[in-house]
Amino acid sequence: KKDIFVLGIETSCDETAAAIVKNGREIVANVVASQMESHQRFGGVVPEIASRHHVEQMTLVLEETMRRANMDVSKLDAIAVTEGPGLVGALLIGVNAAKALAFAHRIPLVNVHHIAGHIYANQLVQEMKFPLLALVVSGGHTELIYMKEHGVFEVIGETRDDAAGEAYDKVARALQLPYPGGPHIDRLAKHGKPTIDLPRAWLEEGSYDFSFSGLKSAVINALHNAKQRGETIRPEDMAASFQASVIEVLVEKTIQAAIHYRVKQVLLAGGVAANEGLRTQLQKQMKQLPEVELVIPPLSLCTDNAAMIAAAGTVLFQQGKRATMALNANPSLLL
Ligand code: KG4
Ligand code: ZN
Repeated sequence: KKDIFVLGIETSCDETAAAIVKNGREIVANVVASQMESHQRFGGVVPEIASRHHVEQMTLVLEETMRRANMDVSKLDAIAVTEGPGLVGALLIGVNAAKALAFAHRIPLVNVHHIAGHIYANQLVQEMKFPLLALVVSGGHTELIYMKEHGVFEVIGETRDDAAGEAYDKVARALQLPYPGGPHIDRLAKHGKPTIDLPRAWLEEGSYDFSFSGLKSAVINALHNAKQRGETIRPEDMAASFQASVIEVLVEKTIQAAIHYRVKQVLLAGGVAANEGLRTQLQKQMKQLPEVELVIPPLSLCTDNAAMIAAAGTVLFQQGKRATMALNANPSLLL
């Protein structure tokens, strides 16, 4: 059987990324140019700046990827690109680069949903076993997704307001920590105690939906009230309390859904999957379900990258999915 090489391109937010993956499972080259430093002083991603960086970096990142893989573009079996969701100006750079390469070299083009990519990052670690449940937690998404087979996604729960990563970033801002705040809260939480009483948004009985904006407001109010009373809350304790609330709900709902849907695997995906507290707690709680395998990708595959897009793209390519030259960026693409 012939090996399949797929080039992935990802530009949905603030990383310009390209990667080549062999047979959907093996990374041949994986290049990520982060723009984080350019956005840091604004406390968040500035769309216009993101687009400009993507334009500057795209060709360089592609060349570097081909160089590291020691491959010629003409040898690729397919090009997979993130179609959406994301920032429209950012997505457009990747989509157009992919279209140009595919057109010039007559290579099949495959459009990929960003979240499908995050889920398929797990295929680079461990073969998927169906049915499975994926907990996707990133800056823009918080979703529980049930998959009964490759390429079929059923969203069984999602956030009704802020995404988990968004809540991390907003709470970090309230604690005057740099952007992106997730890693900083994670680090502080290790040195603090969850002494501040914060709400847990369980929502209705049996719901797998999430809500984080109430928690975020509770943190901001607690900090404000303490200040008014002339008291100080240790940032470490606030970080630990906030993190405990987020993780308890994420983990508990994931376990309940895993039981209800009788899955064989639970996958963790998205930038917040880099969270130490979440990884540890999920590992610990999943021991209740010894028949269910837990897969957690390494940190570099949790945050945005193109290897995950190539991995998802390979499966879609094998299923016969193709995009035409009419492919456009879709900032609010549904899974
Ligand atoms: O998946 P991602 O790289 O980009 C999106 O598609 O959104 O996720 C970025 C998000 C940010 O909100 C960042 O604060 C969060 O992931 N994050 C973390 C950690 N590392 C990154 N959140 C909590 N703990 C971490 N260690
Ligand atoms: Zn992402």
